[in-house]
Amino acid sequence: MGSPDIAILGTGSYAPVNVLTNEDLSKQVDTSHEWIFTRTGICERRIAGEDETTSFMAAAAARAAMADAGVTAADIDLIIVATVTPDMPMPATACFVQNLIGAPSRAACFDINAACSGFLYALDTAWAMLGSGRYRHALVIGAEKLSSAVNWKDRTTCVLFGDGAGAVVLGPARGSAQVLGVRLYAEGSHANLLCIPGGGSRVPDPSSSPEGPQRVIAMKGREIFKIAVREMEQAAREILAEHDLMPDQISCVIPHQANLRIIHALAEYLELPRDRLFVNVERYGNTSAASIPLALDEARRSGRIKPGELTLMLAFGAGLTYGSALVRW
Ligand code: UT7
Repeated sequence: MGSPDIAILGTGSYAPVNVLTNEDLSKQVDTSHEWIFTRTGICERRIAGEDETTSFMAAAAARAAMADAGVTAADIDLIIVATVTPDMPMPATACFVQNLIGAPSRAACFDINAACSGFLYALDTAWAMLGSGRYRHALVIGAEKLSSAVNWKDRTTCVLFGDGAGAVVLGPARGSAQVLGVRLYAEGSHANLLCIPGGGSRVPDPSSSPEGPQRVIAMKGREIFKIAVREMEQAAREILAEHDLMPDQISCVIPHQANLRIIHALAEYLELPRDRLFVNVERYGNTSAASIPLALDEARRSGRIKPGELTLMLAFGAGLTYGSALVRW
C-alpha cells in the first residue's frame, strides 16, 4: 500500500490542434470511415506538428495540471513521464519537461516505459515515493507522439493511434480526496504481440536491413483484444475486492481508450452500465500512456467527476502490462 494521505491535486491535458479524420486516412491507405468506426469507435485523432514534441505536449499538460492544483513549478520535486515515444532514447523526456516548466534542480526526473499502462505505473511509483516522505509534489505525466512510431502504410495499425498528453499533480491530500490503491501486472510471455521491434539495442539501425524489424509499431490486434478485456476485468475485480467495493459503487470508470468494442465488452463483463464509463476514443484514438490522464482531465473538467466520488482507472498495453487505480476525489 502507498501512503493514505496522498491525493491527485489537479489534472491537465494537451492535444495538438491538427485533426486527422477517418476520411483523411481513407485517402492514404485502403480503409474507410465505416470500417474504422465500426471496429474501433474512432472518428478522428490528433497529429502533432514538428515542434510539438513529446516533452512540449507533456509540459503543456503539466502546466495545466499545476494551475488546476494551485501549485507552481517551484513546488515540484518529482517528475515522471510515462511514454513509449520519448523525445530521444536519452536523456529522459522528464528532464526536458523539467527545463520547459522551470522546475527546480532538486526535482528527480525520469521516464517509465509501460506502454499504455504507463500512466498507472508512473502513478504508483510517484505515490510510493511521496509516501516515503522524501518528496512532496509530483508531476505524473503520460505523453505520446505516436504519429512518429506508426507505419503510415500499414492500415491495420495507422488508423488506431494519435498524439497527446495528460498530467496530474500528486501531493499531500487536502480534505477527503486520496489515492486509495493501485495494482500493476505484466505478462511478458505476450511481449511480442505489440512492439516496436527495430531501433533498440537488438536492431539499432533498422535501415541497414530493410526487410528486418522496423522502428514502427507491429501488432497482433485480434489476440490483444481478447487478452485486454480479460486483463482489465481481473485488474478491476482485484482492486475492488481489496477495497470491499462492488463495480456499481464506482461513479466513473476511465478505461484505456484503445477501442470502443473493448470498452463495451469490459462493461458487460463487469456488469457496469455503459454510462459509468468515460469515453473519448472517438476524438483521440489510442494515445497510449496519454490516454488515461487525457480522459481523466476531460472527465473532471466536464463535471463528470464530483468531490467525494470514486474513480476507477483501468489500463492494458504492450508488455503486456495492465493495471488498475482507485481514487477518491
Ligand atoms: O493499446 C493497446 C493497443 N492495441 C489494441 O488495442 C488492439 C486491440 N485490437 C483491436 O482493437 C482490433 O483487433 C483491431 C481494431 C486492431 C482490428 O479489429 P478486428 O475486428 O480484430 O479486425 P481483424 O484484425 O480481425 O481484421 C478483419 C479484416 C481483415 O481482413 P480479412 O482478413 O477478413 O479479409 C483485415 O485485413 O479487416 C481488415 N482490416 C481492415 N480493413 C479496412 C484491417 N485493418 C483494416 C482497415 N481498414 N484499417
